[in-house]
Amino acid sequence: MKGLVLAGGTATRLFPLTIVTNKHLLPIYDRPMIYYPIATLAGMGIREVMVIVGGKSVGDVVELLADGEHFGLDLTYRYQRGALGIAHAIGLARDFVGNDAFCCLLGDNILLGPELEPLAKEFEAGPWGAGTLLYEVADPQRFGVAEFGPDGNVVAFEEKPANPKSNLIPIGVYFLRPDAFGVIEGLVPSRRGELEITDLLNHYLPGSLFAPRFDGLWTDAGTVPSLLRAAELAEQESADGNLTPPPPRPVS
Ligand code: G1P
Repeated sequence: MKGLVLAGGTATRLFPLTIVTNKHLLPIYDRPMIYYPIATLAGMGIREVMVIVGGKSVGDVVELLADGEHFGLDLTYRYQRGALGIAHAIGLARDFVGNDAFCCLLGDNILLGPELEPLAKEFEAGPWGAGTLLYEVADPQRFGVAEFGPDGNVVAFEEKPANPKSNLIPIGVYFLRPDAFGVIEGLVPSRRGELEITDLLNHYLPGSLFAPRFDGLWTDAGTVPSLLRAAELAEQESADGNLTPPPPRPVS
């Protein structure tokens, strides 16, 4: 399996913190935000990872992560011009992915707790066309939101609904296959001008989407309150001895 980390976007919800710097460089407790998804992929046994960069200070993101050797990874980069959406960013990885299944993580998603490797293996060996992980939140209207059918299975996702149909959201973990690139080609931009990840996931609903719950701690860090919450979660995990120290700076 290959890995993808999305680190583009303009991060206007964090202004003025992100006027001159890239959101993914902001500190979450003792390390830059993007260290978390990078470490999550490394913990899955994935070695080949592409980082999609965009927005401010892209050179600093590359300087920080370098070739990925200090994470045990082999990193490559692609540039996303403009905030064109998560599905658009995934589309940029087509040649890198080739014929492999892949796991895409959002650069501002912090997952603490169980490794994702067993879930990735289950997806890869299974019949599903795509997958994501579900998590219960108190404020679903700011995310994609799952709608469930009478049998308890997800039937659709709605992006940032005014009236959410559940409290369960697809977090920024996507299990995909090369088939996704053809689907992305057929997507149309949403009202906010982006190719939405929920439109890509909906292509596989009902019936062909792997959607277990994530059984650990999760938050995004794309708003001021969630940025603070992410730091608090990381601090607690560190105090409990569950956060491994960040890798040292790469030797240049
Ligand atoms: C994105 C996705 C949304 C998902 C969320 C998880 O939203 O569009 O479906 O639930 O990430 O962090 P964003 O916060 O980038 O607007």
